[in-house]
Parts: sequence; C-alpha cells; structure tokens
Amino acid sequence: MTDRLSQTTPDLAHLIAPAAGAAEAAGAAAATEPARAGSQHPTPTTLSTSSERTDMTPHEQQPTRHQTRIDTTFDHFHRLYANRTLGLKTSPVRALFAVANRPEVVSLAGGMPNISDLPLDVVGDVLKDLVGARGAQVMQYGSGQGEPEIREGICQVMAVEGVHADPDDVTVTCGSQQALDLVTRIFCDPGDVVMAESPSYVGALNTFASYEAQVVHVGMDEEGIDPEDLRVKVSAARRAGKRVKFLYTIPNHSNPSGISQSLERRHALAEEARRLDLLVVEDNPYGLLNLDGDPLPTLRSMTPENVVYLGSFSKTFAPGFRVGWALAPTFVRERLVLAQESATLCPPVFSQFAVATYLRSWDWRKQVRVFIDMYRQRRDAMLESLAEQMPEGTTWTHPSGGFFVWLTMPDGLDSTAMLPRAVTELVAYTPGTAFYADGRGQQNMRLSYCYPTPERIRLGVDRLAGVMRRELDIRETFGVGPSVGSRSRDLGPGPNSL
Ligand SMILES: Cc1ncc(COP(=O)(O)O)c(C=O)c1O
Repeated sequence: MTDRLSQTTPDLAHLIAPAAGAAEAAGAAAATEPARAGSQHPTPTTLSTSSERTDMTPHEQQPTRHQTRIDTTFDHFHRLYANRTLGLKTSPVRALFAVANRPEVVSLAGGMPNISDLPLDVVGDVLKDLVGARGAQVMQYGSGQGEPEIREGICQVMAVEGVHADPDDVTVTCGSQQALDLVTRIFCDPGDVVMAESPSYVGALNTFASYEAQVVHVGMDEEGIDPEDLRVKVSAARRAGKRVKFLYTIPNHSNPSGISQSLERRHALAEEARRLDLLVVEDNPYGLLNLDGDPLPTLRSMTPENVVYLGSFSKTFAPGFRVGWALAPTFVRERLVLAQESATLCPPVFSQFAVATYLRSWDWRKQVRVFIDMYRQRRDAMLESLAEQMPEGTTWTHPSGGFFVWLTMPDGLDSTAMLPRAVTELVAYTPGTAFYADGRGQQNMRLSYCYPTPERIRLGVDRLAGVMRRELDIRETFGVGPSVGSRSRDLGPGPNSL
C-alpha cells in the first residue's frame, strides 16, 4: 500500500495545492462520461480521441492542456481579493509534500481514513439498489436541512455516544468541515474571538481565518483544556472589548494531539461554559473510534443548551460521501439551515440516501469495530516503535483513539526546518506550526498512524528517529546543542508541555 500524501487528508488539503490533481480528476470524469446521443439508456463508451468522435460540436475539439492553462507570472486580480482570503495559510512545505507523495516515502503526515476494510461489494449493492428503487428521488434537489431519513439515522448514531436528539435539531452538512464553516459564518464577524485548543485542527483554524476571526489558544494538559486558563482568557478578551463567539474543542482523540478530555475535565468545562455564558462547538469526528474502551460522555450531553455538536461519517464510514452534521439548539439550527441554503441550496441528496441506506442495511457498528481493531494495531505499532527508537528528551502523547500522536522533540530541534531532511530520508510528518494560529509548534510534529501498515509505521519511526539523532549530533558538534538531559519518555495519555 502506498502513502498518498497529496490526495490524503481533509486537513492536509489545506496545506497542499489541489491544482494538478483536480485537473486530472476533472479529465478522468469527462473521460468516463457515457455517450448521450442516440439511445435513451446509453451504454458507457470507452475513451475515444476527438478525431474518432462524430457527435462533437466544433467547440469541443480538445486543445492541448498547454493551450488551455492560463498561467501568468503576475496575478492581475491581486488587488481585488477579499481580506478574508489573506489569513488563509499557504504551506511553506507544499513542495515537499509533492515529493513525499512518492511510494518510497513513509508518510506519517496524512490523516486519510483507512477504508480498505470497507465491504465495497456491500456498498456497491446499496448504491445499485438505491438508484434502481428510488433513482428519481435520490438524484433530485432536497431539503436545505437535509433529508429526514438521514437525520433519523444520525440521531441513532449519536445515541451510541449518549447524545439523545431530535432529528429536527440536526442540519446535514457536506462533511463536518462544512458544519464548521456554517457555524463560523453565522457567528463570526471580522475581529471576533474564537477560543481553541493548543494545538488545534488546521482545517478549523483555516475556517476561522477565512472569516477573519481571531483565534486565542487555550492551555491544555494531558486531560484536555484547562478550564481555569479558559476563564482567564475569555475574561481578558471581554475586558479588551472583544466579542468571544465560541470555544472550539475536539474532546475525543483530538486532531492533532490525540488527547481526550478526562471525565472530570468535561464536567469542569461544561460548568465553566455555563458560568461564562460561552457557546461551545464540540467537534467529534473520532468519538466512535475508541481503541481502549467505551466513549466518555459528550459535552453536548452535559450542557445541551450551549453546545453545537458536530459529527461526521468520514471516519466511521467513508469520507467520499461528504456527509456530516451539526446538532444545535433550535434558534441556531434555523440560522444554520439558512446559511446552508445560501451555500449549497441543499447538501448532496444522493450521498445522504446512500449513507442512510448503508446504516439501515449493514451492521455498521460491527464495521466500526473492524476499523477499531485495524487502527489499534497501527497505534500500538507506532507507540511501541516510538518507545524503542526516539532519542532522549523526546515526548509524545498516548492516544486512546483516533488517528494521531503529537510529538515534542528535544529542545533546539525545529520540525519545519527538519522536514526537508526527513523527506530526503524517506519519511514525512506534519510540522506542529500548522496547528497553531500564532506560530507556535516549532518543536512539535503530528504523526498519524491511520494509513500506513504497521510495518511501514515502524520503518517510518525508525527513519524519523535517525533524522532526529543526526540533527542532534549536528547541533552538538556546532555548539548549538539542545539540552538533552531528560530521558525519553512516554507521557501516557498526553503531553504536559502543550
Ligand atoms: C477534528 C476534525 N474536524 C473536522 C474534520 C472534517 O472532516 P469531514 O469534513 O470529512 O467530516 C476533520 C477531518 O480530518 C477533523 O480531523
């Protein structure tokens, strides 16, 4: 199996240029489109060249790609872009990720769910039956809020984690990424403050930036967000005249830290949110991927009136359907639906029915258990090899689920500066700075164990440890050596240095 960095991850998509892949995908789609002329039920044609085709208009004669690309050295429109695009992060390591896409590189950088265990024959049957039985309905426009059938399915899925909700309060979205976008759209004006974990999900940080919200990171330890720090920072922002719009948190197996909030911390956070009258956006795409036990109660179940809860089928089924959701108090939900209508008219109807039918016709809980076993093997491979290989002074989190380990290198090492050397040594990771809005994270990196095989993970960690050791040697030799006094250690459930 190869590690495909550039088409990988929703979160890495923010770091990686989509251009070439998108153009190729569009080309491939055009190439497989069935011929329309003639028959009412056309059979798919194989790709034919434009000179062979007799059903084309003169306009369709294909120019070469070189002729169609409008690729100037100066952007004529640079003065016209909205301010909100200026805060979007481009990646200093984008070119490297293109190289890291090569199969010989072990990528511990992506966050792409590993869906190789998905029963594709079952999914194929679901789709075939759906089109056969309800084709005209499932390929129409639908409700801006999402179809009742999937909203009911979503409520059953949420109930597994103790979230009991009415389908009327659910808004279906195009992945939970769009839910994040809609929530930010309805709440944030430029300059408004969003509180976020340190570190936080890069896709959310980009969304907040695109609405020109200011992110204030709240301190964390191995039990999750520090409620005391939250109180101090919210109060300070309010005293400074800022409008604090919400706290964004990923309580379960966070991306990127792998940390899960302890039960006590969840209660304390819910209590603090009530006291501060603070809206909480609880993002929970990894909650069902608990590798070591049962899920802990959600913040939504503790303080329903001030939580907007986001969920997704991307990690427990398949990301390609792009079905996620927001569960929100009634007035918020009304605005979310209006925002959804203005953004997309309605979320993709076909995908919603496909997921709803899959939930009904397949033992999806058993399927999640299959995913869990597969991810546990990978997580264990990563933690074991980190413990065996990492140089002294390195610390890392011990996730109880999800996809990610957050690693803190010995003092003096910089993960962005080190990445070219790592890629040369055929291993890739995501530098920690991607997960902060304020430039922190140089000493950190996110390692993902979700996609490569356990053997490749061990190989990748071995290579990474070698790169770090060589960096440390160089620094020591040239007198800028890091302090490596502390022993390398596994910090258990989380780092104490975030
Ligand atoms: C924490 C978190 N939230 C949201 C998303 C978006 O996922 P999707 O839009 O596929 O539901 C991701 C994807 O990686 C994520 O890690």
